Amino acid sequence: MLCQPAPAVKGERHSPFALSLSKPVLRPSKGAVGPPFRVARALCYAVPYRIPRVRNRSQREPTMLTREDNELICRTGPGTPMGRVLRRYWHPCALSADLPVPDGQPVRLKVLGEDLVAFRDSDGRVGLLGERCPHRGASLYYGLNRGGLMCIYHGWKFDADGNCVDMPSDIPGSRFREKVRATSYPTVESAGVVWAYMGPPDQQPPPPDFLFNRLSVDQVVAAKAPVYCNYLQSIEGNIDSSHLGTLHRRYEDFRREPDETDRPGVPSANQRSYLLAKYRFAQVDVQDTDYGFRLIGIRPTDAGHRHLRITSHVFPVCSMIAGPGRASGTFFIVPMDDENCMRFFIRCNVDRPITDDERASTYAENTMMDPDDPRRRLKRPDNDYLIDREAQRTTLIAGISPNPEQDYAVTESMGPIVNRTREHLYSADGAIIRLRQLMIRAAKGLDEGIDLPALSPDIPYHLIRSEEVIVAEHDDPWLAGADAGETARPGERLW
Ligand code: FES
Ligand SMILES: [Fe+2]
Repeated sequence: MLCQPAPAVKGERHSPFALSLSKPVLRPSKGAVGPPFRVARALCYAVPYRIPRVRNRSQREPTMLTREDNELICRTGPGTPMGRVLRRYWHPCALSADLPVPDGQPVRLKVLGEDLVAFRDSDGRVGLLGERCPHRGASLYYGLNRGGLMCIYHGWKFDADGNCVDMPSDIPGSRFREKVRATSYPTVESAGVVWAYMGPPDQQPPPPDFLFNRLSVDQVVAAKAPVYCNYLQSIEGNIDSSHLGTLHRRYEDFRREPDETDRPGVPSANQRSYLLAKYRFAQVDVQDTDYGFRLIGIRPTDAGHRHLRITSHVFPVCSMIAGPGRASGTFFIVPMDDENCMRFFIRCNVDRPITDDERASTYAENTMMDPDDPRRRLKRPDNDYLIDREAQRTTLIAGISPNPEQDYAVTESMGPIVNRTREHLYSADGAIIRLRQLMIRAAKGLDEGIDLPALSPDIPYHLIRSEEVIVAEHDDPWLAGADAGETARPGERLW
């Protein structure tokens, strides 16, 4: 992490620590539009750095959403503006482990409001087809997967590309099957995940190329869990730094003592918990990038340094959550329909395999399903997440565990699609405001040919990462974790 000396940029301050950070590359984000002046003022208060003036007042965007804009960015079914935006990207649709063997059992999926069936063919390829058979609509989920997925009604069989490869119920000699295709979407597999592209074929971007896509599968662990609310609520939780001082805190965190890692560098787990409990607020700023934006949450430390949590949000649904080094967690929140989403969690080790214990604990924490009905989470709204009120008084603020369940409880408790016209946002919500602005802009501008973030092949996706680190008082926070071409100017916004 702390590897290359960074050349001094004229006018910028560098301490010995800042000099050890990676080289910054100054590159403006294409077509980025900045937050409105009122948010800029709030963030200006939040971050002790110069904030550039808004250059074009006509480009101001609202902070509170209208009902129409809320609908615009929450609805993702076929033909909707946001659905068309999301279909321009690769998304996780299943785990490789869901389809363990060739010719094995197909799985039923729902992605972006579409009912789908995935199967692994005889060659190991994953096919992703519309669930309805193109003959008369029987479900292909009940199909026989042998040399292709065969509908059990009249025997039409489809390969992974949706071609009809057999039609035994047609008259011998007929070539009708050559005219038939099932709805099918391309897939690739990496990082233990099946990735799908559901957009226009002529606009298909290269497959995902994050760091974990490049590592061997034994260095990566992926898990998934359904979340019973609109996808945007779940994403907004991932980029919300200020809830860490409340929702995820245990009472023991408030009794911790600081340790010797209150100094520039990576803090211990104890020191991180101590700081998050003691300083329950975060000074928040947001920085646009070619791939979306970075969110920085800054807290003071007792020794006079600053504790940084930098989360990178790769538009539209990927958040690399702040953590030490390059192996922290990445989330993809993929809409199933407008009131449910699938949360994919990917964790990797850069320099060694994931141990069996790490793999087991990742599954245990992130995939807590009901043993009596493995399609549902064990802790869910209809059983109040099995909240333990005694634990809430004595052990952990939420009374619900583990951490992911705490997140599910609060985001789902907002309702299937939260009414964003009634919110009261403050400076800590800067990243949430920015994400909504980017989404509204993408949904409204798609037909005008705007450049969507995170589609350029020039972006070094494998270098995008998060960071959690302590820096000296006068170090530039934006130099931390700036490996993927992010600008490193303090507090800069690119509009
Ligand atoms: S409905 Fe599938 S083959 Fe007839
Ligand atoms: Fe959380």
